[in-house]
Amino acid sequence: MIQKPKGTYDVFDREGKKILYLQKLFSSLMEKYNYEYVRTPVFEMSELFHRGVGDTTDIVTKETYDFIDRGGRGMTLRPEGTAGVVRSFIENKMYGRATQPVKVWYGETMYRYERPQSGRYREFYQLGVEVFGSTDPMIDAEVISIPVQFYQLLGLKGIKVHINSLGDKESRLAYKNALLEHFKPYLDTLCEDCKERYHKNPLRILDCKIDADKEIMKNAPKMQDYLNEESKTYYENVKKYLDSLGISYIETPNLVRGLDYYSHTVFEVEASVEGFGSQNVLCGGGRYDGLVEMLDGPSTPGVGFALGLERLLTALEFEKIDLLGESGIDIYVIPMDDTKEYTIRITNILRMNGFNVDTDMMNRNIKGNFKQADRLNAKYVMIIGSEELNSQILTIKDNKTQEEFKIKEENLIDFFDEKIEVEE
Ligand code: HAM
Repeated sequence: MIQKPKGTYDVFDREGKKILYLQKLFSSLMEKYNYEYVRTPVFEMSELFHRGVGDTTDIVTKETYDFIDRGGRGMTLRPEGTAGVVRSFIENKMYGRATQPVKVWYGETMYRYERPQSGRYREFYQLGVEVFGSTDPMIDAEVISIPVQFYQLLGLKGIKVHINSLGDKESRLAYKNALLEHFKPYLDTLCEDCKERYHKNPLRILDCKIDADKEIMKNAPKMQDYLNEESKTYYENVKKYLDSLGISYIETPNLVRGLDYYSHTVFEVEASVEGFGSQNVLCGGGRYDGLVEMLDGPSTPGVGFALGLERLLTALEFEKIDLLGESGIDIYVIPMDDTKEYTIRITNILRMNGFNVDTDMMNRNIKGNFKQADRLNAKYVMIIGSEELNSQILTIKDNKTQEEFKIKEENLIDFFDEKIEVEE
């Protein structure tokens, strides 16, 4: 038997329903914030991620799914959403729109060749946003508020928001030099990855899980001490707006994020319930003011975030939050005798009027059909036998109370409109 590739999973049954529910909730939240939906290709030219995500990141050096297409071009399955959306922003000249900033959202599968474990997959799904064109710290706060709002709507309680500032270019350079000086005498004691990070991107040493507990990590210089006035003010303003929104946060100086493109604000939301497991970062994001220009677009600031759907589902399960409740269909139609042509027509009319309807396709007997109606948790059962066909008066049963109704076909929709609330 052929099995699914390692690190992937199939979506079906209750999982499918939950995912659709979350996608729908996120999309309606995005309408409230006035973000527009975008979709970009699942594969892009490899160069986009090398330049966009960064050549020194784990994602690009160790985790991309690369292939050469039949035309000999180097392609990569997207490991994250930002680079593709930035490419699309530039290519479709969204910077020329009158309605700035450009605020977009996406929901896509991502691909990283990581070591699979609970909460870490090779194909996973992110919901995310990107905003282009604004340097107002208010937009950073808005972006941070979106996942927080989303988690709150879902009823998640055990979450913590971590924030930090990486400052502007000048501040980062000063900090980078301080880090180089600090780690230089201890270079031999660092792990192999950190030795490489020292030369390529010393900020990422702070992100290391292996060396995390070492004394030299704990007393490493803090970014905050190297922020110039402008960067400090920016960070203070972001925090001010978060305070106005009533969002509590933890300032985490070692938060640097695993992607190269960030400047100023970075943040992560973590599931802080005990026993959740090591993959507890539910979402992450930040500002990336140099990225559009680095990918050959006009100098344009950007900020965004992405949240992992799988980890969110685990968090919901962990906090025993049931998304689906008692779900079921509205009406189950049972054809008896030889009434299938009439049944298919009535079923269709009901569906077109907004009801969730199913009917028998397995030629069950009446007992089997009532059982099926129960399995589908149908609110009403409608029986169509030859008598109903001839009289066009339909027999309907409330599947809970067993109350029976005789309703003329022409009054059918009015009857159900009154009984069943149709979801928009
Ligand atoms: P990221 O931190 O790499 O950021 O990923 C965001 C979220 O995706 C993580 O917090 C996690 O929930 C989920 N995630 C990442 N890798 C995996 C995996 N292998 N399996 C399951 N879930 C995973 C980004 O991707 C940036 N593009 C976010 C961003 C948008 N920054 C600015 N704009």
